[in-house]
Order: sequence, then structure tokens, then C-alpha cells
Amino acid sequence: MALSSPIAYRVAEGEFASTLPDLIEPSWWTGTPALDPATFTIDCSEYEMGEADLAEDSELAVRMRETFERVGLVHLVNTGLTELAAMRKFAKIVVETEMDYAGGSNPRDNIEPNVYEVGAPLTAWLHYHHEMAYVGKSTRMLSFLAAEAVPEKGATFVSDSVAVTDELLASDFGKKLAELGVCYHRNLTDRDAFVDRVEEGVYNHWQKSLDTEDPDEAVARAQARGLVTEWGADRLLKTRYYVSAFEYFPQMDRNLLYCSVADHGMWFDTWPLVQHLPHHERPLHLTFGDDSEMSRDELREFVEIYGRHGIPIDWRKGDLAIVCNYRFAHGRPGIHLEDGEARELGVILGAQYDRVGAKPDKW
Ligand SMILES: [Fe+2]
Repeated sequence: MALSSPIAYRVAEGEFASTLPDLIEPSWWTGTPALDPATFTIDCSEYEMGEADLAEDSELAVRMRETFERVGLVHLVNTGLTELAAMRKFAKIVVETEMDYAGGSNPRDNIEPNVYEVGAPLTAWLHYHHEMAYVGKSTRMLSFLAAEAVPEKGATFVSDSVAVTDELLASDFGKKLAELGVCYHRNLTDRDAFVDRVEEGVYNHWQKSLDTEDPDEAVARAQARGLVTEWGADRLLKTRYYVSAFEYFPQMDRNLLYCSVADHGMWFDTWPLVQHLPHHERPLHLTFGDDSEMSRDELREFVEIYGRHGIPIDWRKGDLAIVCNYRFAHGRPGIHLEDGEARELGVILGAQYDRVGAKPDKW
């Protein structure tokens, strides 16, 4: 397969439009990858993919690290690998290098050994987002491992955040985002309030999210993470996190967009038991940093700008990709599998870091 051959992946158009006319449906890409896949794809059919290739100074390891450094994205294809454990070893060639760079932290504290995709329904789309932008501790990169895949169905998309940032900052909406920052709102429900009750409007209980049964301890833990807290009716714990919509990226010595509508109430537009609630009552929400709402036009612009710089990563079983969490946002359309089809991605998170937001002189 020529590495730069166009990918036949196609998103079903207007899938939800007939039933939910108000939805802002992501377009994902323009139909042409925003970056030539040849710049980040490594064809592994020329390697044995054994122990020798895992060595720190192997040709493959050097190519992977060089590609990641240059592009912020590496896609290994034709690996012949079938086990997640083996894929993980190859992903760690890049992921662990970054950990050393981050200050020699213990990789075992940073890597989730085998985390699967978030518990969102496979049929729901996942808007473009940067991983863990909504908390003070984020991650520098992440890796996807294709344990099961159906070619040309179930691609992950990445969006070039450098190009998105440049385009956004030229717009009024981008300037407003830069000036006001954003606030991530969370409504954490009380598990005890839902005993014997339908879990309407529930995304996460504070007991689970903050790993304690004690309300005072829950508040202390939330505040230790930089969150502003407030109790609502039925021991609803409301948290707010004020931060820049941008993040300073040391390698490029500039600020990059680090925020998207994935943390807006519209995330739940197609979720049963939540979609009927007004945005401010949904379990999570995103506003400007002065608590004002984003207009529908602004939200639409926010979605479309990521889509104009999108690139599909189509999966074959055994593929793996490593994605810089600053230089790329990731997301995917809803996936509709036929009987007998399976699509399962393992996810590895890279080194954790404390968000610094935007730096004033680095635009
Ligand atoms: Fe994600």
C-alpha cells in the first residue's frame, strides 16, 4: 500500500440531522488529510517487529522518535502484531522517551497499563478534544493500540492544533477565547440520592469521581485539584475550573489551543437520560472564563475549525499511533458495526504534567 494513498474512509452524512435538527454535527475533515500521511506513517512490513526492533537504538526506534519529534504524530502500520501487550511495548519506545524528558518520573506511575476507550456509546460521536484539558493535571501524549479493527470503519481522527490555533486567533471568537479563558463546569451527583431511582442526568457521582464517601473530604480533594466547589440541592457537588483555552507548548515555544466543545453540555446531545436537560443542568459544561455562555454561532465555529484541519487514522488490527496532546486534538464519528465486526482500541496515557495555561508573550 502506498503510504500516501488517499484513505477511503467516509463519514455518514447528516446521520442525526433528521431527528435532531439543532445538533452541530462535526465534519471531521475536508475529505483530504490536512497532513500527508507519508509524513507520519511508518510501514513496519520491512521489520521483524521482535526484540531487536524494541532496542532503544534500533532503526525503527530512531525513526519513531524522530517522526514524533518532527510531526507530533506516528502511525505504525503492517506491524503483524496481534497482542496488546506487544503493541504497548512499541508505543512505549516514544512514550517513555517523553517521560525521561519530563523529569525522570517513574513510568509505572504514569502509564495506565491497559485502558480502553471512555465509556461513551460506540454509536455516539466524540468531538475533537485534547485529553484531560478539564483538570490541572493533563498528559503530554497518548497512544492508541488497535486490538480489533474493521478497515475503513471506525477511524480515529486527529486535528492539527497548530493550524487550528493560527486560524482561530485570526477570528473574533479566537481573540475572545484568548482574552476571557474558559470555565469547565462539572455537576457531580450524590450516589446516595440515586438509590432506587433512575439515574437521570447522571454522568459521575462525586463519591466515585473523588474516591471518598465523606463530603468534606470530597470538597478538600476537589479544591486540591484547583477546582472551585459549591453544593447544590440533593448534595449535588458543582465544581468549576477556570483556565486558559490555550496551553504553552515548550517544544515550539508558543501557545496552542487546548480546548474544544467536548466539555460543553452539547457532548450529551444524543445521550438518553441527559439530552433533555438544558445545558446548564447537564453534568458537564463549558463557558467563557467570565461564566458567559458561548453562542450557537461560536460553538459552530469551534466545531468547524477543528474539522478543517482533520486527518483520519484508519485502523488495521495491530496498528498503533502515538499522538502529541498539544499538537493534535483527537475524536471520532459514531461507529456502527455489523454482526461479527469488532473495533477495540487500547489507550496509553503519557507523562502527566501540571497545566500552565497560555503564556502572555507566546502568541
Ligand atoms: Fe480522548
